[in-house]
Amino acid sequence: MQLGATAIALSTAGLAAAIALLPRLRARLHLAQAKHPSLSGHSRIAARIASLIPFYEYDEARFFRCDDAPAEIAALRRAAFVRLSQLYQARFAQTTALTAQAAESISDLQFTAAYRVPFQFRRLVCRHLNAGAFVRSSRGVTLTDLDGNCSYDLAGSYGVNVFGYDFYKSCIERALARVRELGPVLGPYHPAVADNVRRLREISGLDEVSFHMSGTEAVMQAVRLARYHTGRSHIVRFCGAYHGWWGDVQPGVGNPLPAHATYTLKDMSEATLRVLRTRSDIACVLVNPVQALHSNANAPADSALVDSSRRAHFDKHAYAGWLSQLRAVCSERGIVLIFDEVFVGFRLAAGGAQEYFGVRADMVTFGKTLGGGLPIGAVCGRKDLMKRFRDDRPAEICFARGTFNSHPYVMAAMNEFLRRLDEPDMRAIYRDLDQVWDRRAERLNQTLAEQGLPVQVANMSSIFTICYTRPARYNWMLQFYLRAQDLSLSWIGTGRLIFSLNYGEPDFDEVAARFVAAAAAMQRDGWWWAGSAMTNKSIRRQILREMLLARAQELGMLRRRHRIEELPAEQLERRLVVQLDVMERVGEDLRHPDQAGLHVLDEEQVHGPEQQAAHSEDQPYLPYMRDELGGARMRLEQAEQGGIEIKR
Ligand SMILES: Cc1ncc(COP(=O)(O)O)c(C=O)c1O
Repeated sequence: MQLGATAIALSTAGLAAAIALLPRLRARLHLAQAKHPSLSGHSRIAARIASLIPFYEYDEARFFRCDDAPAEIAALRRAAFVRLSQLYQARFAQTTALTAQAAESISDLQFTAAYRVPFQFRRLVCRHLNAGAFVRSSRGVTLTDLDGNCSYDLAGSYGVNVFGYDFYKSCIERALARVRELGPVLGPYHPAVADNVRRLREISGLDEVSFHMSGTEAVMQAVRLARYHTGRSHIVRFCGAYHGWWGDVQPGVGNPLPAHATYTLKDMSEATLRVLRTRSDIACVLVNPVQALHSNANAPADSALVDSSRRAHFDKHAYAGWLSQLRAVCSERGIVLIFDEVFVGFRLAAGGAQEYFGVRADMVTFGKTLGGGLPIGAVCGRKDLMKRFRDDRPAEICFARGTFNSHPYVMAAMNEFLRRLDEPDMRAIYRDLDQVWDRRAERLNQTLAEQGLPVQVANMSSIFTICYTRPARYNWMLQFYLRAQDLSLSWIGTGRLIFSLNYGEPDFDEVAARFVAAAAAMQRDGWWWAGSAMTNKSIRRQILREMLLARAQELGMLRRRHRIEELPAEQLERRLVVQLDVMERVGEDLRHPDQAGLHVLDEEQVHGPEQQAAHSEDQPYLPYMRDELGGARMRLEQAEQGGIEIKR
């Protein structure tokens, strides 16, 4: 009798505990559902997988035949590579000489040189296809290197160059003249500051402004203020979006620490809106509008271009609809909506993304071009959100200052930029801007298609990205063919082409003609040969097999070096095989063509990385991983217990 009563009491207590846990579980489930199924939506897993990827490289024979192309195709490729290498050597001799000398002690140069192409090809490419990293001058839409080569600039100084270099040169020159008397005095302001604030308030429709030294800093400040005023801890960023290299907005690969207060959620998703509607720990949502071009994916770099599965497409209407849904839910829940316009600001419309998409934010960050050619970050925001102290709690401040904030030279260059922006000829540039660039992209695509070339571009106004229409292993070679045509891309390769708005029709037509010529040469040289059985999936599987082999070899060497006992060594070996197997299966389970455990080092992961698993506590998120990964964890456990067969 007593036993029965105890049992009832216990089960009631259990039920009560379960009921008490239900809302928490539901919240966690909603969070899991709002995570994108790709690796870029799972930063912790991405970071773990990245740590498993071994370095290996192709020998010379494999370099030209890693897709098992026939010998005559490999010979064509080899001959083309030698020709290109000779051309590079002759054309860029002085530029590469200084680059080689300087690279010894410029860590940034070593890094960018290494991450231009998939790592298996790195050594030969670095040795033979180096165009150097120095330039002497800029003019119109061109750059001139130390050898006197004049090339079309498609890198756009990471997006800073919206109106053409000559425009920024004149901003800086005029600014220098204006502040000459004051010099680099910091603390007190140059009068240009007041006018800048007035103009930025008008442009943003927001009440107050703060100045910083980079886009990263502006984002840090906007997020810090959102946390301060809402009293909430977490930020939401969208899968694939870059917001600078500060740790909280750069979880996952590239950041040695996990970002514990960051939710990385699916862009353009009802599941995300549900999370925003139901959680009470979210301070702000960060939006980088360039994601409209490739939502939920990173802006890709050639180092990640192991196959042709990447897609991009811009639908302005759909993205505007998404932003207004975000606006509504943020207003409803007291979440601060931040548009990070560091990249797209002043490129899409004079009033920025707010004007372009017709949606208002609570805070906007600007940077890059706003400095009139000098380094800058700025936050515009609602009065109640920008305040850094509380009237009723004098010690509770939100500290944000920096030695070089509001530097007179920068403020004067910004003022030149903003004043010019107001002039009718500058305003006219924005008229029909999208139509102009859409027509240009369309023309280029048409020519590429007519010539049977497996390349297409997608664009968001003047920002282009390149997609490949046929499975291939050598797409990354295109950057070197483009350079041979005197088209200069940034170190991330063909992932993104950034045109300045001073590109006239003749300039664009010339670039398009050279682009097509480069692609045609690459096709002629056999790099896009595709065996009938080759698919993007088969390419990724092949690379995973290579990695497995590399890991096994690594382990063999370790065993020899350290005389590890046979049995533990075998166990270790088996574990690695299992890990890599799981990695492959995770890639498949996640059903995302871009992300089979390989695209972990791409532009935003090296120039500014990716994702953090959406979890609210410090503990690993394992209990929910099984749902999210379609049983990948279960398989790992089974495998570790000896219940899995590794099929190859
Ligand atoms: C949207 C966005 N936010 C922030 C940043 C960081 O700006 P910065 O490189 O000036 O720190 C960037 C840089 O590319 C960016 O594109």
